[in-house]
Amino acid sequence: MVTPNSKRAPQKPGSARGGQKPGSGKGPLEFYVTSGPGTEGALRDELSELGFRSVRLNRGGIPFFGGWEDGWRACLQSRIGQRVMVVLGRYPAQDQDELYQGAKALDWSEYLTRDQTFAVAAFVHESCGVANNLAALRVKDAIVDRLREETGVRPDVHRDDPDVRVFLYWTRGRATVYLDLSGVPLFKRGYRQSGGEAPLKETLAAAALRLSGWDRKIPLVDPMCGSGTLVIEAALWACQVPPGIWRERFGFERWANFGDKEAERLERLRGKLRGQVYGHPPRITGFDLDETALESARVNARAAGLRLSFRRMPLRELQVDGQRRLLISNPPYGVRLDADHQLYQELGAAVRRLQGWRVCLLTGNPQLTNYMPIRPIAEHPLKNGNIDCRLLVYEC
Ligand SMILES: C[S@@+](CC[C@H](N)C(=O)[O-])C[C@H]1O[C@@H](n2cnc3c(N)ncnc32)[C@H](O)[C@@H]1O
Repeated sequence: MVTPNSKRAPQKPGSARGGQKPGSGKGPLEFYVTSGPGTEGALRDELSELGFRSVRLNRGGIPFFGGWEDGWRACLQSRIGQRVMVVLGRYPAQDQDELYQGAKALDWSEYLTRDQTFAVAAFVHESCGVANNLAALRVKDAIVDRLREETGVRPDVHRDDPDVRVFLYWTRGRATVYLDLSGVPLFKRGYRQSGGEAPLKETLAAAALRLSGWDRKIPLVDPMCGSGTLVIEAALWACQVPPGIWRERFGFERWANFGDKEAERLERLRGKLRGQVYGHPPRITGFDLDETALESARVNARAAGLRLSFRRMPLRELQVDGQRRLLISNPPYGVRLDADHQLYQELGAAVRRLQGWRVCLLTGNPQLTNYMPIRPIAEHPLKNGNIDCRLLVYEC
């Protein structure tokens, strides 16, 4: 049922070095997987389940320790993480000068030579009193000066599509410099061909699925599936398809220390993960009123190598058939689509009718709970773009 493509870009010749390097150079590398607001707990559970070491709950993202292959594996396997980063260095920096000196002292040549471009982004806490872009500029200068002194050549900055993405986190006199292994953010799986009207980000859909408590065994239905993000992510999860398997190239594949040997190791890892794909998920179905949205869902599911059932049906026609199911959906909520009093009444009626089902609704409209005949057993605050949302979980 699942046939993930195995496309990958031609391998780049280059250095075959790949030993542990950042930090002390000896111990395990420290990785940090960034997450959307409210999804940290789900991401922690995901990374633990995937067998990463020393996973710890943290606001904004989850750290873990390991070797380079663990970082690559996180890029390939995390459904909820937005980016995977490695700590290149951490140092005290009370002012811009110390920020510059600390960044200049780091070993950049492992990752960045005259052949690579780079870009720096920064988040600076207000306690440091320096604007994000100014701090990013100081780190950029430090990198350029260090490499020019070492090699006589200054590396180029490429803002939109750099080979090496550097991220600075500077707070309370302490700077942490990361390299971003992901490249483009991980929600861009590569299977989405068609967007639909208000599609969920794949990473948010994956987080909602985990927070719903779904066991990946009972049938799942999204009666307002739009472009199909929830059902596609559900099927990929149930089948253990690595969400990064369609990626032509991750950020780390463009670094100077990623040579032919590393490319071979990565290919072996991809092969191993592909070998773990499981072909018999429970029944997963998407319905919607809108035929155009359903066509997008079909196209996206096919691109993900999935054969899923999508059919035009209004919510009010959804019936119980004696089997326990998970209904999970992201109904329209007025901020991006017109709020619909009648639809919310239909949702309330569905919760009454679907005895024995679990119903999970991701909504940005706080009014929705007023239409429900029962109280949710759990509420998870999340963000859909800039919109404050909640995932409401009902046991009907
Ligand atoms: C916010 S969108 C869902 C987006 C989807 N999660 C995605 O990622 O593409 C809400 C969907 O509900 C559908 N819808 C609205 N009222 C409906 C109804 N009464 N029955 C079935 N679908 C409905 C709309 O056509 C729209 O596709």
